[in-house]
Amino acid sequence: MIVTIDGVAASGKSSVASGVARALGIPYVSSGLLYRAATLLGLEAGLPLHQAAALLAHLQGNSLRLEPRAEGNRVWAGERELTLELHSSRVDAGVSAVAALPEVRAWVDAQLRALPEPFVAEGRDMGTTVFPHAEAKFYLTASPRVRAERRAKERPEDVPVIEAALTERDRLDTVQSAPAPDAQVIDTGPLTLEGVIEEVLASVRA
Ligand code: ADP
Ligand code: CDP
Repeated sequence: MIVTIDGVAASGKSSVASGVARALGIPYVSSGLLYRAATLLGLEAGLPLHQAAALLAHLQGNSLRLEPRAEGNRVWAGERELTLELHSSRVDAGVSAVAALPEVRAWVDAQLRALPEPFVAEGRDMGTTVFPHAEAKFYLTASPRVRAERRAKERPEDVPVIEAALTERDRLDTVQSAPAPDAQVIDTGPLTLEGVIEEVLASVRA
């Protein structure tokens, strides 16, 4: 069984996916962390983020891999854990350029499709491109202001700065961010995190 949770930046995907996965007793898979890790490694190596061939070779040479778990995903480059370095503003600013490369998308998709089921997969295109056959699909939204206020609790920047960066990332991610036609769209703005998790679980169990 695969459940997909897609949505715009900071809409609650990973928190909701983690809650749903824990309730179902299965792992969740954060596709965004692979794009973030590819970006971090590219930046550290001084590679131009639009040069797919060099970037891919670097990712493969560093044995980049995702460790899905219900409590939170971890990302490794060989023996080095990258997890805590993936949510910086520097990675935020570069990740959409890396995610726009078809070669990088194909590499991420292959990593995800090799994972053993069952799991909850979250990202932008889980229900459309990567797992179109998923049993249940969800798409999370919320206004830019609500999302920026939530993320401001996790970042040093102010709400307006975060809101501008989120809106710009939404724009750059538009191509891969359309909801699947069979996805249930949930506006998380008026709901609590627990409320969103309950709504998803009720639909999965129906
Ligand atoms: P994403 O994975 O889409 O970037 P996150 O899961 O990181 O989003 O969520 C951003 C923050 O919003 C988290 O701290 C989460 O707990 C918080 N949050 C607050 N209310 C909600 C809600 N109703 N639904 C989802 N997340 C919420
Ligand atoms: O949680 P947030 O939306 O801030 O970021 P994320 O889900 O970790 O995704 C980071 C970036 O990776 C996005 O801005 C997209 O550029 C890219 N991404 C993607 O293109 N496709 C996915 N399935 C997941 C992420």
